[in-house]
Amino acid sequence: MKVLVTGGLGYIGSHTCVSLLENNYEVVVLDNLSNSNIGVKNRIKKITGKDITFYKGDMIDKKLLNKIFTNEKIDAVIDFAAYKAVGESVSKPIEYYTNNVATVLVLLDVMKEHNVKSIVFSSSATVYGDPERVPIKEDDKIGGTTNPYGTSKLFVEQILKDLYKSDNSWSIAILRYFNPIGAHESGLIGEDPKGVPANLLPYVAKVANKELECLSVFGDDYDTKDGTGVRDYIHVVDLAEGHIKALQKLEKEQKGLFIYNLGTGTGYSVLEIIKTFEEVNKTKVEYKIVGRRPGDIASCYADSSKAKKEIGWEAKKTIKDMCRDVYNFVKKNSK
Ligand code: WQD
Repeated sequence: MKVLVTGGLGYIGSHTCVSLLENNYEVVVLDNLSNSNIGVKNRIKKITGKDITFYKGDMIDKKLLNKIFTNEKIDAVIDFAAYKAVGESVSKPIEYYTNNVATVLVLLDVMKEHNVKSIVFSSSATVYGDPERVPIKEDDKIGGTTNPYGTSKLFVEQILKDLYKSDNSWSIAILRYFNPIGAHESGLIGEDPKGVPANLLPYVAKVANKELECLSVFGDDYDTKDGTGVRDYIHVVDLAEGHIKALQKLEKEQKGLFIYNLGTGTGYSVLEIIKTFEEVNKTKVEYKIVGRRPGDIASCYADSSKAKKEIGWEAKKTIKDMCRDVYNFVKKNSK
């Protein structure tokens, strides 16, 4: 089975390409390298011993997409290609809606023209906004997103639901990620954001690795166990496995629209993460408490029982694995 992975050289995309190759799928990647680098292609080969077919370009480029679907016999698509910096999205709404929404419309149109109607979409727990309750279930209220990044994911989910309503021969899996962190145990691939990391773990790891001075903890006055933000951190390798299970579900069902939370079901606070990171890696993380980051919510963690029941997926790696693997990657790739 041949799978087109858009954004396949990115953080989650590259880990999913490794899982796909290890599960004997053929992989074609389309990536514009805006948040990844071509070196990841060779690192995927180093890990798996297998090659991927690579096309450089944008999903907005209908001519290129048509060329890929004509050249390659694509059976299914996993769509990762999107900008994902929450803070940045507030100042760049046009770029975010163009890149995260308009491109998906082009992709779906080309898929339809080539009669490829199987897609796994990379969504996010951000679609729940400030959740009504935790742990969060898939049929809990969505909406009330507080930034264009989250809203772009909400829009694409709605597009996919409307598409399925118009033609129920599509098979669609929407995967809502909680907080992906960690890296492949080899340290060859991992989260390598360009510039200063916006997310917690890459920042913590760079402070520990003396690449950054001090972590700012955004607020300790939330209504949580120790006042700092609580999140459901999930190892990126577990997340990648979730995509294989979702693909297998689409292969088995042949049609349908399925939505799954991919989280561990356990929430950790920022201070707990810092403590675990220091213990696992026998290191120190300098930090200071500062004001809240606009748009942040207090608590967000998953009820992922539906994925376990329907696609036989559950997270296996621990928070200690995540802290160890992210630091291993940063140390092996420090600039
Ligand atoms: C986690 C916690 C912060 C940085 C977002 C998106 C989500 C996904 C992951 C794409 C919060 C605190 C953070 C720092 C801090 N994106 N923090 N100091 O905001 O939960 O989720 O990124 O896949 O869709 O919504 O992740 O890592 O930024 O924050 O104190 O320097 O760490 O306040 O409580 P977030 P995050």
